[in-house]
Amino acid sequence: MATHSSTYAGILGDEHRAQRTEIVAMLTKAYWMEIETVMSYIANSVNPDGVRAQEIVQSLRQDIQEELGHAQQFATRIKELYGVVPGSMKFSAEQTYLQPPEHQTDIAYIVKGVIEAETGAIEYYNRIIQTTEGVDPVTNDMMIAILRDEEGHRRLFEGFLREYQADGLA
Ligand SMILES: [Fe+2]
Repeated sequence: MATHSSTYAGILGDEHRAQRTEIVAMLTKAYWMEIETVMSYIANSVNPDGVRAQEIVQSLRQDIQEELGHAQQFATRIKELYGVVPGSMKFSAEQTYLQPPEHQTDIAYIVKGVIEAETGAIEYYNRIIQTTEGVDPVTNDMMIAILRDEEGHRRLFEGFLREYQADGLA
């Protein structure tokens, strides 16, 4: 009886089990990064006081939806690669730099925290892109699209920071 063992299944093939495991682990970390970013952005889109905060608050509100979408895409890809999306008990927080500032008018602190979060995502997603290059084109393509979102966020907040620095507020 003929088997399909010679059929090339790409990243889903048996011979790519080890690479799949590595990619699923990386996607799982990326998933938690997005989930934590959602938590941090919710808090930082509600807590700030003052006229100067409004632009940041509006921007973070939009970003929450985008980051949530990234988390859902990562979760979906984990399953497609035969992984299991972890439960909440596996979560551990890392974003020390995005905790609420001492004063709720300290917008520059939040802007810097957002830049740090986006920079971390950009660094890690570039690593996933390198790991999946030529191995898993679907994950690779997804990561490139999401990387563009993160670069866009960082660029926007760099602009906010420049304005604060020009005004002597950061
Ligand atoms: Fe994201």
